[in-house]
Amino acid sequence: MGVLSGDSAESIDRAAQRLAAGALVAIPTETVYGLAARADDDQAVAAIYRTKDRPADHPLIVHVADRAAAQAFAEQIPPVAVRLMDAFWPGPVTVIVRRLQGRATAAAAGLGTIALRCPAHPVARALLARCRELGVPGLAAPSANRFGGVSPTTAAHVAAEFGSEMLVLDGGPCELGIESSIVDCSAAHPVLLRPGVLPRAQIEAALGQGLTDPGDDATPAPGTLESHYAPAATLRLMDSEQLGRAIALLPPTMAGLAVYSRTAPRRNPWVRAMPDDPRLVAHELYAVLREFDARGVKLVWVERPPDTPEWEGVNDRLRRAAAP
Ligand code: TXA
Ligand code: MG
Repeated sequence: MGVLSGDSAESIDRAAQRLAAGALVAIPTETVYGLAARADDDQAVAAIYRTKDRPADHPLIVHVADRAAAQAFAEQIPPVAVRLMDAFWPGPVTVIVRRLQGRATAAAAGLGTIALRCPAHPVARALLARCRELGVPGLAAPSANRFGGVSPTTAAHVAAEFGSEMLVLDGGPCELGIESSIVDCSAAHPVLLRPGVLPRAQIEAALGQGLTDPGDDATPAPGTLESHYAPAATLRLMDSEQLGRAIALLPPTMAGLAVYSRTAPRRNPWVRAMPDDPRLVAHELYAVLREFDARGVKLVWVERPPDTPEWEGVNDRLRRAAAP
């Protein structure tokens, strides 16, 4: 057990064998690390919920090798879903479609729909290919963290969450750093349930139509929960003027506080520079929040990024991390 380098065929095989036998393995993807179990084994999937302390009514994403593998879980893949798969798979877009009855019931938390994603990370792809050879049709995998916490973007983060009992396949730091975009294609109009690093305009261009936001009338989709993706420290979002004024009032040493900001002067030791590029912020965000927690920081002041489309995914995660 422990961390296994994902760069050899031997370690891929070892992880695939364990998954085929019904065990859990933490795996790298291009977004965040996932806690995987074979999707067609409800008992194996039940262990994911237990390990994460995740409520049983909170469905998981099923990871597949390609579109043909996705087909095995879907009652039907509507044209809008096909467009997304063609445009973005393998990649960070999860597509929700009607579920084929009796397939991956535990992973879907019994819902009539299923979330499907084909990851781009080479280790995940090699693993899914080897799993398929062993008769495993797909891997249910939520982010490899305890429910409600910050998703892991390195193998060390996963080991810190679950200890040395967990087998972690190491694929290096995740390139993108925040979770996939989730598009619900199971109803009349595609709905963006969770924004990711892809700007929504790119998804709409591939769809050839606009995305709807999760409606207030419907029951809130699982995963659109406020107060999710939250560090142990209390996080406050502020605009740059507000932050500047607050910092000016502080003494030079201020135990327990961290500031993550694009504009605040760096002379104070508790200020950590936020990059100007949303992709760089997405890439480092969870590692930065985990680092603050590891240092025992109690309060994090974060400068609110611009309210522009390319920042949507980062703004979504920051807003949730700051929710009470
Ligand atoms: O990038 C990602 O998507 C990562 C990596 C590991 O692939 N996975 C991930 O999984 O973020 P998780 O479980 O942390 O988030 C999946 C979200 C949950 O909020 C869940 O409620 C939602 O997807 N979801 C899954 N199936 C659904 C369904 N049938 N209907 C609505 N929401 C669903
Ligand atoms: Mg998660």
